[in-house]
Amino acid sequence: MYEPKPEISDHSHVSSLDVYRRMYERSIDDPAGFWAEQAESLTWFHPWEQVVDRDFDAVDFSWFAGGQLNAAYNCVDRHVAERGDKTAIIWAADEPGVYEHITYRQLQREVGRVANVLRAHGVRKGDRVCIYLPMIPDLAYVMLACARIGAIHSIVFAGFSADSLRERILDAGCKVLVTANEGLRGGKTIPLKATSDRAVDGLDLVETVLVSQRTDTEVPMTEGRDYWLHEETAKQRATCPAEWMDAEDPLFILYTSGSTGQPKGVMHTTGGYMTYAATTHKYVFDVHDDDVYFCAADIGWITGHSYIIYGPLANGATTVMFESTPLYPDAGRYWRVCDDIGVTIFYTAPTALRAVHRHGDEWVTKYGRKSLRVLGSVGEPINPEVWEWYHDVVGDKRCAVVDTWWQTETGGIMITPLPGATPCKPGSATLPFFGVDPLLVDDEGNEIEGNDVRGNLCIRASWPGQARTIYGDHARFKDVYFTQFPGRYFTGDGCRRDEDGYYWITGRVDDVINVSGHRMGTAEVESALVAHNAVAEAAVVGFPHEIKGTGIFAYVIVKPEYDDADAAELSATLRQQVRTVIGAIAMPEAVVVVPGLPKTRSGKIMRRILRNIAAGEFEDLGDITTLADPAVVEQVVEARRAAT
Ligand code: WT7
Repeated sequence: MYEPKPEISDHSHVSSLDVYRRMYERSIDDPAGFWAEQAESLTWFHPWEQVVDRDFDAVDFSWFAGGQLNAAYNCVDRHVAERGDKTAIIWAADEPGVYEHITYRQLQREVGRVANVLRAHGVRKGDRVCIYLPMIPDLAYVMLACARIGAIHSIVFAGFSADSLRERILDAGCKVLVTANEGLRGGKTIPLKATSDRAVDGLDLVETVLVSQRTDTEVPMTEGRDYWLHEETAKQRATCPAEWMDAEDPLFILYTSGSTGQPKGVMHTTGGYMTYAATTHKYVFDVHDDDVYFCAADIGWITGHSYIIYGPLANGATTVMFESTPLYPDAGRYWRVCDDIGVTIFYTAPTALRAVHRHGDEWVTKYGRKSLRVLGSVGEPINPEVWEWYHDVVGDKRCAVVDTWWQTETGGIMITPLPGATPCKPGSATLPFFGVDPLLVDDEGNEIEGNDVRGNLCIRASWPGQARTIYGDHARFKDVYFTQFPGRYFTGDGCRRDEDGYYWITGRVDDVINVSGHRMGTAEVESALVAHNAVAEAAVVGFPHEIKGTGIFAYVIVKPEYDDADAAELSATLRQQVRTVIGAIAMPEAVVVVPGLPKTRSGKIMRRILRNIAAGEFEDLGDITTLADPAVVEQVVEARRAAT
């Protein structure tokens, strides 16, 4: 156990485990009272009539019904009077040492201009806008501009392929796409406009493409469709009235992988999401007015939505947008940024920590890191050794470490320690946040009570940040999260609750792989492989990977006409194929050509066996007698051996 540091408890919002427990019990016993108090810290144009109305059977959740507010107003305008000259965003450019400080007053003007540009291009309340931008200030301006006029943004991570971008544009029906000529990351350029051009090629749906200028590179512009964002903003005034949005009006859609091929457009609404993002940000990171808060995620993922933009800005904090990578130009980059701008709270993923950890402590100790107070982790289970290194070396045994468990669908952090209050065990996300009621169930849905147990992690009752639907497919939303265990939200994660009631996430129990803290459905990777001419059948599994946590391993059966193809060459082609179809994050570490796949007599692929073989565990493959053709196993093992 790592006990809370007294010097942090002395000043923290929640000063002891007892205080946490009292507040937690209250939040569960009286959710309406608890959340009404939290929501009051936002600015509402019109008060709500009913705090919560939750119907798990109908899968219909409503928070702050009747209330009206605007997310951008809450993140920007309301702070201008009191702290207009306070830095809202510190942009840390890819080039080391280059920073841009944007005050709340400047942010208001920039957001207003972009909002007017969107309006001028016909964007109205409820319209969808696709954003495919790198980590530059324009990204923050555009998302807040959407929120300001009531348009629903759908941000697509700039590492996704043209096909993935197109699929998402079509699914959400976006009429405007905002992109950049190029991105810049780790000294390398990323051809975003070229990818965007392929994505919208022949799509009448997309009327306007706004292009932000990050580099000096010229790109082809299509007359009547493509406009430079800076030229458009120059024509607009800086003031733009904020739309009054109902609490349950959509704020954004964000796509995430599931167990089936099609990514899901997870939809969040305004009042509940904003309340949840702001409240969790305040308590989990123990944010105060003078903090410099640095979340190193990309805004293309939910972590960036909730904990770079909406939560921190709603709280009037100073938030960092980091364009670069943890290893550019060297493994000391994070700590250099911390020293350069006096970061007090730092939040990143275990995969990034593992990547810098292995370069040695000297890259950390080279920098002072004196300003740091709270260190966060998110995205996957953090290995206890890495937790300890984070705590002892990065945090000089002085900082609080918070391992935060949550998901795209939860909108905000769900299971987490609170700095200064919760004693920590390395590798455990510890205890539920206020208003979160987790439970474990067996595969039949029976609740597993008591401590020192494991099961499927579910949540009992609605919380404000809960996703409300999958865009355009409420039936799928019900099916994925609320059907297997009726009356509960099912997370898709396995979990242990230890003898002290602490939660330990053990990983996904569905066909989803967590690669570097990002979710990738095996079915999606399989269909990308099968889309190639050579492939008759594909099976994809995860295997332990030193940096990524889990790596992607693919087995393919090729069509007869490819029987004589060079295996190494084909494997390289197929890895590239996945990159082209989905994006670099989905690229398998290995693609192995096999003569057959281990299947049950009913034709179901036995992934357990494939996982063991991928991990190099050939000896104890368990019971294979139920296989249609047990001889296949030996062939797969051989192919795996030959490939490495
Ligand atoms: C899945 C959600 C939400 C932020 C980024 C990922 C895994 C997330 C933890 C953690 C163990 C974690 C879970 C979850 N996960 N945080 N602290 N400890 N596992 O968002 O892409 O929606 O993925 O990430 O498996 O279900 P996401």
